[in-house]
This record gives sequence, C-alpha cells and structure tokens, in this order.
Amino acid sequence: MNPLPHPPTTSTATMKVDEDAAVNAGILPAEHWSAQLGISDDKSLFDSDKESTKSLYPSIFKYRTIHGRTYHPETTDAMYWATNDRTQAESLDINHHCCTLALEGKLFLSPLDKKTCKTALDIGTGTGIWAIDFAEEFKQTTVTATDITPVAPSYIPPNLTFEIEDCNKTWAFPNNHFDFIHIRWLNGSVTDWERLFERASAHMRAGGWLESYEMSAIVESDDGSVTKTSALGQWGKIFIEGGRKFGMSFTVFQDGMQRTAMEKAGLVDIQEREIKMPIGSWPTDDAAKEQGTFTQAALEQDTEGYILFMAETLGWTKRQVLIYVKNVRREMRSKKYHGFYRQKVVWGRKPENPAGPVGPERAKTAPSSAAKRKASED
Ligand SMILES: C[S@@+](CC[C@H](N)C(=O)[O-])C[C@H]1O[C@@H](n2cnc3c(N)ncnc32)[C@H](O)[C@@H]1O
Repeated sequence: MNPLPHPPTTSTATMKVDEDAAVNAGILPAEHWSAQLGISDDKSLFDSDKESTKSLYPSIFKYRTIHGRTYHPETTDAMYWATNDRTQAESLDINHHCCTLALEGKLFLSPLDKKTCKTALDIGTGTGIWAIDFAEEFKQTTVTATDITPVAPSYIPPNLTFEIEDCNKTWAFPNNHFDFIHIRWLNGSVTDWERLFERASAHMRAGGWLESYEMSAIVESDDGSVTKTSALGQWGKIFIEGGRKFGMSFTVFQDGMQRTAMEKAGLVDIQEREIKMPIGSWPTDDAAKEQGTFTQAALEQDTEGYILFMAETLGWTKRQVLIYVKNVRREMRSKKYHGFYRQKVVWGRKPENPAGPVGPERAKTAPSSAAKRKASED
C-alpha cells in the first residue's frame, strides 16, 4: 500500500531543506498568518475541529483521517489531497453550480447528439452531481461514474451507475466503448495526464468525445489587489509546492496539458475555452458577481478541507492551517481583493481512423511488429 503521505517528521537537516524549498517557492512562513490576525495562541480556533468530526460519513467506510477530517479509503493506494466528508461534498456541489454558470448553464461543450450518445463515463465524479445531471438530461444514455471514494447520493437516475476505480490504473471497461468521457477537476490527482487521455481514447468509440475541465490553483487579479504576500496570493504556491513534494502536479492549466495530452492521444477537432472565475462578490457585472459569490461560498464551505493536507505536506500544524484559512476568508469577504482563478475546458474527438495506437489498452490489441512484418511478407 502506498499510504497518503503525512507531513514529514524527519531530521532537522531535512526540515531545513524543506523550509528552503518553500522559501524559494515564495511561500511565507506559517507564523506570518497569526501576526496578520494579531493573535498568538487562540485555542477557540480549534472549536471547528469538533464540528468537522461530527460530520463524518458513517463508519461503514474505512477512511484515512488527518486532524479529524477524512480522506479517501485505505482500500486504494491512490493519493488524493482533499477531504471526502459531507463538508467537502457540499463545497463540491456548490462548485458544480459555479462550473455550470461558467458554461452558461451547460454541463459540457462537446457537440453531443442525444440520439447517438449511447454510453458516457464521468471520471473522478466526486459527489456524482455532474453525472446525475447528465444522466437526467441524456435519459437514453447509459452513464457510468467512477471515483476512489464511494459515492452515496440520495437519488440516482436509473441510467446511472457508480463504480469504484482509480483512473490512474487500468480501467475495467471495454475498449472502443464510450461515446463521451468527461473529466472535471482532477488537478493534483493524475499521475500522468498523457497516459490518462490515451487510456480514455482507447476506451472511446471512434467519433466519441473527450472533455476535460480543469482549473489553475493560482489566484490572480488584474488590478494588483491580490499581491504575492496576500493569503489569496499564497494559495496557489502552497498547492504547487505541496504537490511537488507529494509527487502530483498542480500545473495542468499552466502547462497547457489538457490540449497536449489530447493531441498525443490522437484526438482531433480539439477546441478549448478559457474561463476567468471571480472569487467573491467584488465584480460589478451581474453574471460575474453571481459566479464570484458562489465561488466564495464553495471555498468558504470547506477552505480547510482543500488546504489542510497540502499545508501539512509543507510542515504546517493544524493550528497554523486554521489561522491561514481565517486570513483567506477575511480577504475573500473584504471585497478589496479582486481575485479570480483561470479554468479551461478542452474537448476533442476520437477520429474514425486513428493514425496509430493511441493508448496502452489499444497497444495491447494492436498487431505486434512481428505480426506486421509477417503480414507484409505475405
Ligand atoms: C475536486 S473533486 C472533483 C469532483 C467532480 N469531478 C466535480 O467536478 O465535481 C476530485 C475527485 O476526484 C477523485 N479522485 C482523486 N483521485 C482519483 C483517482 N486516482 N481516480 C479516481 N478518482 C479520483 C476524488 O476522490 C474526488 O472525488
């Protein structure tokens, strides 16, 4: 088993190296944030610990626990950085609303046809809210949704099935099967994006669509209000540096990885749309204000659940994380920080006649070079 890594409790020398890496990444020391709030040892900050343990899912599922928050089950060796309890689930559901607002009420941008879309797959489905909405809209489509954490929605449309599966490993689905594969918000969860999209392509029918919706972890502003040393300005640095330490990239957006991986997978007709998602109710435009208000709500719902593991990876204590979280919330509420983060939707089609093998599973079924040689000799 490859356990979810806990913060390193190693030698002073290693800690120094870690501190230096964090400083080089532009991350302020954790103590900075208590000074911002003018506090030293405020025990009342920890009251929220009791709340978060109250909201755990029933113990029928065996989860990993860090500081009273649960993470994905120990039955998988996958590594995922956010919590999986109800507090986090509510945040994901609000975020689903943010994503659909950004797509003007649509669930996807691929040019799907209800008559020909017979099978669809949602990878890393979270609470399953996107898959449920999609299955409701595409009632004739057989929809499957996978995750490493069991999904327990109160209502499941009859054409939707949930399965436990690690997307970074071989998928237990037939090749050339799905008409649509949807992947949203897996930044920091994918070991190899090129391999993931190759795998998706192998499991797609010719003519099927793959759609990827990802976000940047970096909070920006056009007017300089989000400075490098603000809590919001530090957010992305903590994710990128924390991800570097536990071996998962959080720069899929910055690297343009969605398009690159689709091209490598042999997909064609690739299109993309970039989104600037405001954080907070600061925008003057009504639509942007609505998006920003919901984004703030999604983040405030579980700021701790998003950052706790990443900050721990950098050696922060729970108390330091909670103080930083307070600073993030204060900035989001102040309306002085005109923050936004970028998101990108990229979609592409599997061609009728792919140029060559486009994935590990396809490679298995492709004729061997010896067989090809024999065929040409015949
Ligand atoms: C940020 S949530 C996004 C959920 C959903 N796609 C959405 O947009 O609402 C990421 C989800 O990916 C799941 N996940 C993380 N690593 C995974 C893996 N290796 N295989 C499958 N799912 C994974 C997590 O359990 C979590 O539910």
